[in-house]
Amino acid sequence: MDYKVADLSLAAYGRKEIELAQHEMPGLMAMRSRYGAAQPLKGARVAGSLHMTIQTAVLIETLVALGADVRWATCNIFSTQDHAAAAVVVGPEGTVDAPAGTPVFAWKGETLAEYWDEAEKVFDFTDADGNKIGPNVLLDDGGDITMLVHLGLEFEKAGVVPSQDSTDNEEYKEVLRVLARSVANDSTRWTTIAGGILGVTEETTTGVHRLYERFKEGSLLFPAINVNDSVTKSKFDNKYGCRHSLIDGINRGTDVMIAGKTAVVCGYGDVGKGSAESLRGQGARVVITEIDPICALQAAMDGFEVKRLESVVETADIFITTTGNFDIIRVEHFEKMKHQAIVGNIGHFDNEIDMAGLAQIPGIVKDEIKPQVHQWIFEDGKKIIVLSEGRLLNLGNATGHPSFVMSNSFTNQVLAQIEIFTKTDEYPIGVYVLPKHLDEEVARLHLDAIGVELTELTKEQAAYIGVDVAGPYKPEHYRY
Ligand code: NAI
Repeated sequence: MDYKVADLSLAAYGRKEIELAQHEMPGLMAMRSRYGAAQPLKGARVAGSLHMTIQTAVLIETLVALGADVRWATCNIFSTQDHAAAAVVVGPEGTVDAPAGTPVFAWKGETLAEYWDEAEKVFDFTDADGNKIGPNVLLDDGGDITMLVHLGLEFEKAGVVPSQDSTDNEEYKEVLRVLARSVANDSTRWTTIAGGILGVTEETTTGVHRLYERFKEGSLLFPAINVNDSVTKSKFDNKYGCRHSLIDGINRGTDVMIAGKTAVVCGYGDVGKGSAESLRGQGARVVITEIDPICALQAAMDGFEVKRLESVVETADIFITTTGNFDIIRVEHFEKMKHQAIVGNIGHFDNEIDMAGLAQIPGIVKDEIKPQVHQWIFEDGKKIIVLSEGRLLNLGNATGHPSFVMSNSFTNQVLAQIEIFTKTDEYPIGVYVLPKHLDEEVARLHLDAIGVELTELTKEQAAYIGVDVAGPYKPEHYRY
């Protein structure tokens, strides 16, 4: 088995944490008991790109328990939990000397070059005769491996991969390097891979956004299931997950007292709502910035001040971006922030904060306090603390969302994988959300574990509100 992780000897520790997590992931464990015998994913070759955490380990092993062959990379250079990666490679039955699990290509603290080299390896399956074969399903978080297939095919068809000098973007340079190499080695590689993919299931807001854009411009190559917009994903993971893991990241990164400080949360979508509540729960005075009048009004009526960043940049202590947009915190803001202001991002990509611009401020020095915590020292001695180099801090500085909420997200992922793999014909090219009855089912699977007593409709009540006793209970347009 090929793999690349930091240290296989961490597998025993990882296994213990996987077992703890399984107890907190009733949805995923129900998938195993419900579908284990039927093996609905037998024949599926799943290429995955998603934060390689303990919770993801339980997801991977659930896909394997349902019959899938899986290869995995992370979707972020700082988010891997090395003991989780090691445990997945070793597998529940294997040993460090004879790993028998799933190939993983991820470690905490990859360089951008390493990241893209490893991302490409999820496409290298082998068939029973040892021949190279591509995946037939993708499981993506943020859309990076989906992008590799689309760009790979585009460049292959054009017969040329743009030179790395054609871009100033350091990350895109690496994408071009990896694709140039693969096209040079095999001029039909991406045509073959793209032709074999039945579909992708996408985890997050930013990746989903990229899929809808591709579909709109007519360039989407295969159907996609938008897992993010299952209610039991975005209204739980994005909100309650961030409510848990945002302050975890700030605390582990800085251990600064949050109570009494002024914290600015940029964006009041699902992640912003969870983040603002997280900080308020610690006693911070929270200010929101928004561009959407509906979300701005929501924030105000939830009791938050809503201001422009420019109005509070000189006085606030903590700045968190949650927008999924770019250029939110820029050089002109850094220059006005006060000494020891803390800046972090919890949105998917690092471009919410202009890190390149920060590095170019004349005389500025970047000083590492510890991995993923840096102070940027200005010429006049002012210091700004930046977490996870502007990448999502809840996974870079802490361990991301806890198992219970990820069980909701990942049960949707498993259901979406089964849908796309077993009902391919029902999904022409397009972007779909899972049907509501499955969304309700995911929630239902998590009720017992936290002692919820669900009231049952009588037949008469069901008829009165026009639903079936067994659900779905809400129309598609209901917003929760
Ligand atoms: P969303 O679309 O619900 O919220 C984003 C909000 O930012 C919107 O209300 C939008 O109006 C606002 N916004 C956009 N531009 C802005 C600007 N210039 N200034 C102020 N506000 C602005 O998206 P969601 O689901 O909250 O996701 C946000 C980001 O977080 C995405 O990149 C997503 O992929 C990522 N994410 C990260 C997670 C993590 O664990 N770190 C978990 C889930 C999602």
